[in-house]
Amino acid sequence: MKIGFSAPAMPRAGAIMVGVLDGGELSPMAERLDKATDGALRRAMGSSRFNGKRNQTLTVIAPAGSKASRIVLVGLGKGDDFDELAAQAIGGTVVATLAPTGDKTAAVVVDAITGSKLSTSVTAAHVAYGALLRSYRFDKYRTKEKPEDKPSLETLTVETRDAAAAKKAFAPLSKIADGVFFTRDLVSEPANVIYPVTLADQARSLTKLGVTVQVLDKRQMEKLGMGALLGVAQGSAQEPRMVAMRWDGAPQARNKRPVAFVGKGVTFDTGGISIKPAGGMEDMKWDMGGSGVVIGLMKVLAGRKAKVNAVGIVGLVENMPSSTAQRPGDVVTSMSGQTVEVINTDAEGRLVLGDALWYCQQKYKPHTVIDLATLTGAIIIALGHVHAGLYANDDDLSDELTAAGKAVGEPVWRMPLGDDYDRQINSDIADMKNVGGRDGGSITAAQFLKRYIQDGVRWAHLDIAGVTWSKKNAATVPKGGTAFGVRLLDRLVADCYEGK
Ligand code: BES
Ligand code: MN
Ligand code: ZN
Repeated sequence: MKIGFSAPAMPRAGAIMVGVLDGGELSPMAERLDKATDGALRRAMGSSRFNGKRNQTLTVIAPAGSKASRIVLVGLGKGDDFDELAAQAIGGTVVATLAPTGDKTAAVVVDAITGSKLSTSVTAAHVAYGALLRSYRFDKYRTKEKPEDKPSLETLTVETRDAAAAKKAFAPLSKIADGVFFTRDLVSEPANVIYPVTLADQARSLTKLGVTVQVLDKRQMEKLGMGALLGVAQGSAQEPRMVAMRWDGAPQARNKRPVAFVGKGVTFDTGGISIKPAGGMEDMKWDMGGSGVVIGLMKVLAGRKAKVNAVGIVGLVENMPSSTAQRPGDVVTSMSGQTVEVINTDAEGRLVLGDALWYCQQKYKPHTVIDLATLTGAIIIALGHVHAGLYANDDDLSDELTAAGKAVGEPVWRMPLGDDYDRQINSDIADMKNVGGRDGGSITAAQFLKRYIQDGVRWAHLDIAGVTWSKKNAATVPKGGTAFGVRLLDRLVADCYEGK
């Protein structure tokens, strides 16, 4: 779907979307159209339950003689709480409403919204952004879908008075959408297509945007002593990889140390010898979701030329059972020198991240490290599919992430850390074991990661197991891979790390 901006124009072909405030106050363009149709819009409102509540819609077929196909009233809700997320949701609603209509072109008219603090051009940009985010589809493997079952919309024009300003405000948002789409693609691809080597290749493609990409192969990781990651990888015919992506967008920064993002990239998680049940195992193709977010985020930062020095590290492995797979009870030595008793080979993400986190800190000396992982089923029990679990060793970082999540609609909820939880992963024969029992399962996983964080480094861990994949459509996130984390971390960078 293409998106354009222009000044409001009438008459026009295709669908016309216009706003109505909660309570039924028509936007200026809606008012004009109501007059032009002898009051058809007000009559339609009068004989329906549509009253302008946010994201309600009411479709009125355009009268005979009109070039347009239909006029769609879109509820804006109340003006005083109309913010960026509300504008994005309206954009999403527009795309979802038009999907089954057959219209190839549509215009959404964005007028000033009574009571809203957003400028009209920023509102227009966010409507466009929301529409774009909702238009995502992963349909490359569907060869038999009938044309009438596919969304028909080819061009959406956002009509607003200052189209040039709206277009300018949209430019960085479209770069965020590029990264979100990249992540959604990576997460949606099956594990016979995306495995460590091919996922590393995808990361390498960011070179063309100015990202410095370095790929470590198995031999290099052996030399570095990454026994925890390699222990997970050893059951698979697919060789592991570790990828480091650097975006140096602030060469003049006072603090040369970067902010680092680290992602779990288990391209398929069978559980290994501690094998998972068959039901739902196909979901484990998206067990590389954390790494998908890190790669997509690096694409955003480079795409919008963020003034930040950022590093993205992803540990890529496939967790398989085989005669070469690691066994429950095996002891591995991680790059940090710490030994781990592998009680359960299905608790593999923390083994991969332990080495990735250590490598990241040794090599890049980041001031802040944020890792993302589809780490535990336990976080889904705790928080469902709404919030990601947040763990942090620093209250400011926790607050910053919480605020960024709220601002972009990717909410996080802080979970506790503590010595009493940490004790649960003490081992009788090694420095630690990789599971701490069922109780507090997401917390003990975070405690495991914390043992790989060096003194003085600000650290946060996002357990995104519940939010990486969605089974139902939401305003700006169609069902499937969500890319949860890309918008959040881009916002964190923009608000807290750029230009410092
Ligand atoms: N990748 C899974 C966690 C997961 C579960 C992600 C469901 C998304 C949806 C992880 O590697 C795992 O298997 N965790 C185990 C840990 C347990 C063995 C301690 C879990 O959560 O059951
Ligand atoms: Mn697992
Ligand atoms: Zn896993």
